[in-house]
Amino acid sequence: MPATWSPESWRSLPIVQVPDYPDQAALNGVEARLAAFPPLVFAGEARELKKALGEVARGEGFMLQGGDCAESFLEHRADNIRDFFRVFLQMAVVLTYAGGSPVVKVGRIAGQFAKPRSSPTEKKNGEELPSYRGDIINGPEFTPEARIPDPQRQLEAYRQSAATLNLIRAFATGGYADLERVHQWNMGFVKDSPQGHRYQELADRIAETLGFMRACGITSANTPQLRTTSFYTSHEALLLNYEQALTRLDSTSGDWYATSGHMLWIGDRTRQPDHAHVEFCRGVKNPIGIKCGPSLEPDGLLRLIDILNPKDEAGRITLICRFGHEKVGQHLPKLIRAVKKAGHTVVWACDPMHGNTISAVNGYKTRPFDRILKEVEAFFDVHRAEGTHAGGIHVEMTGQNVTECTGGATAISETDLLDRYHTQCDPRLNADQSLELAFLVAERMKLEREGRGTHLQPAAALAG
Ligand code: PEP
Ligand code: CO
Repeated sequence: MPATWSPESWRSLPIVQVPDYPDQAALNGVEARLAAFPPLVFAGEARELKKALGEVARGEGFMLQGGDCAESFLEHRADNIRDFFRVFLQMAVVLTYAGGSPVVKVGRIAGQFAKPRSSPTEKKNGEELPSYRGDIINGPEFTPEARIPDPQRQLEAYRQSAATLNLIRAFATGGYADLERVHQWNMGFVKDSPQGHRYQELADRIAETLGFMRACGITSANTPQLRTTSFYTSHEALLLNYEQALTRLDSTSGDWYATSGHMLWIGDRTRQPDHAHVEFCRGVKNPIGIKCGPSLEPDGLLRLIDILNPKDEAGRITLICRFGHEKVGQHLPKLIRAVKKAGHTVVWACDPMHGNTISAVNGYKTRPFDRILKEVEAFFDVHRAEGTHAGGIHVEMTGQNVTECTGGATAISETDLLDRYHTQCDPRLNADQSLELAFLVAERMKLEREGRGTHLQPAAALAG
């Protein structure tokens, strides 16, 4: 680890999962331009998110993190953003109302473009080409030209992120997220699906509650908490050239912040403690996620936490666990015990997607929905047994009616994958599956609260 951190100190360390840009001068030019562009998010907002996650770490709240596996230049349209935001709000309202907990909303959006790959090359019909690494780096088309890393794409990713964020900020604060509209978020194909009906019932109950509150004089017109919502952005801090160019010194605090998104995470493939990605994240003050896969041992995790959060600041670290549905019981308890013993304050979140990817018979990458649900259940079970707080979920999802993950209430089969398989990278939950997952999580949250209630009572009595 270099003695002093700077936005470029990562450059002296080993690094994996980086593109090989053929034109260094063009890359330098793009970095210089990005460095002069306005920040996408503000340090104060990242601090607010950290505070909210700090509450979650203390057991007071739940983090919902979700969005595309990889955002796409081609799919960048207002209706896609709106549909995602709508389902995300539906999930949040299910968790808040049925789960009875404040929900910290974090999108995998407005910056989620760069992808780590398991292989540097990809083969199709006997031809081998460099792998697609996300729209910020190269193109998904299977041609030699498309796969050449092009730095100009970073400017396009910045532009798209700015436009997406602009629309989301308008949705979050301009009336779209008003709780009075809780019924209107249930639209399109979701409205007529089994989960849509379930949501409708919940929305009716919320509307009744709002009616009562209105009669008491509390309305969305006089209560901003009902009219607006806080929504934060996040992405994997993979393309460090881009991240460095958008890292700025905050004049209020004198600290460095990544201004490409509110929260950054370190992927499961780039979390080597003495490598570049950890070095970069060490010095920016944003909330940081660490993806925890089956190869992460307790010692390795403690070392990462020591490097990234030496002062044990609440809300700084979110551990995003992604073991696979059958491996949670084997890996999660030992990590929880080690973190507890070392006295670290963290948010524990469950990514039930990345450990459950399989290849369908027709070659499509998919994720069986029942395995996703099983991983979430196992995550809650382990936390219940260890007496720790299951603090969040991290999912790949879309508001579109895609057929990418098999199963769910509409029973998508492996053959159905051919119908609407649109993802740029990994298979996502469609709107219906997202809602079903939210209902399951809400039930588990309620259970956790009830369990905690009975645990807490003797201690509270003693304290009294
Ligand atoms: C991802 O979140 O898209 C991802 C690549 O995850 P992981 O680093 O956990 O494999
Ligand atoms: Co993914």
